[in-house]
Amino acid sequence: MSSRRIRTVTVILAGLCAAGLLSPPAMADELYDLGEYLSGDCTACHQLQGESKGIPSITGWHVESFVTVMQAYRQGERNDTLMQMVAKRFSDEDFQALAVFFSKQ
Ligand code: HEC
Repeated sequence: MSSRRIRTVTVILAGLCAAGLLSPPAMADELYDLGEYLSGDCTACHQLQGESKGIPSITGWHVESFVTVMQAYRQGERNDTLMQMVAKRFSDEDFQALAVFFSKQ
């Protein structure tokens, strides 16, 4: 399998785990860890608990909606200059990892 296919499979599996369709194996843990690592770039603005200074809370979201919203910022479909700049630095896999991490906070 090419690494690209492995990545695709990882994303799909992670989605299924997050949706509760698979019991959470090591795969979900790995995404969570990556998400926790990447979240340092978000928590300067987004608090892990509640909203702050007008910046919305991003915890406890559905993984799929989270990823969709991040893609919308990256593609400029959602209009916020700050978030568009942030989103452009991340891949879909990163979004997935961030989604898993923040969904569990
Ligand atoms: C410089 C400050 C800043 C940083 C850093 C930042 N955000 Fe944001 N984020 C915002 C602001 C401000 C909004 C509200 C924008 C809007 O109204 O669309 C927002 C909105 C969002 C939303 C949509 C919230 C909603 O209720 O619709 C998500 C999801 C989100 N950010 C995720 C992230 C993630 C993930 C990261 C880290 C990779 C991140 N943000 C980093 C400031 C930031």
